[in-house]
Amino acid sequence: MKRVAILISGGGSNMVRLVEDMQDDHPARPVLVASNDPAAAGLAKAAALGVPTAAVDHRAYPGDRATFEAALLEPLLDARPDILCLAGFMRILTPAFIDRFEGRMINIHPSLLPKYPGLHTHARAIAAGDTEAGATVHEVTSDLDSGPILGQARVPVQPGDTPETLAARVLEREHQLYPLILRRFAAGQRERFDI
Ligand code: GAR
Repeated sequence: MKRVAILISGGGSNMVRLVEDMQDDHPARPVLVASNDPAAAGLAKAAALGVPTAAVDHRAYPGDRATFEAALLEPLLDARPDILCLAGFMRILTPAFIDRFEGRMINIHPSLLPKYPGLHTHARAIAAGDTEAGATVHEVTSDLDSGPILGQARVPVQPGDTPETLAARVLEREHQLYPLILRRFAAGQRERFDI
């Protein structure tokens, strides 16, 4: 059984889907949900699902990513995760942190990578006149949002879409994609799988 830790920064809707899926014949179990924001709504949701939580406020370490990450590593290493999932975790991680979890860390990003790494993905897709948008689950490497793609889900961009309406349509598909890809990843399957 693989041990999974999940990092969040906000509402944690993807985290909830991952935790709910890790039951029965699933090859993994959740061991920790951690956040860089003690007020992240997802922390209470994780606790309600019976998953241990930790919060390390990045604002206590202004301009010092390395010390923030050292503090975050304490509860994380105590939980002895085999896999680290980023689920709406909005801090950039240093190469030193990423190297420690090399081959064991995955992320969900709200665009069809390699299009639109970084922020404001939905606004950028609309501004570009794209007819399709979506989400990508990928392995995390030191290149931001550029690691090997494990799977994608696509949605249409509809006339009159705003970043908010498009984000909601994509998020629904994220909730299908991420649990499926984590299940495969935990079972050792790394070939790309699109839905
Ligand atoms: C999701 O749309 C996720 O793809 C995105 O943040 C949202 C988190 O929602 N992640 C990123 O933008 C990463 N750069 P959630 O907290 O409800 O899962």
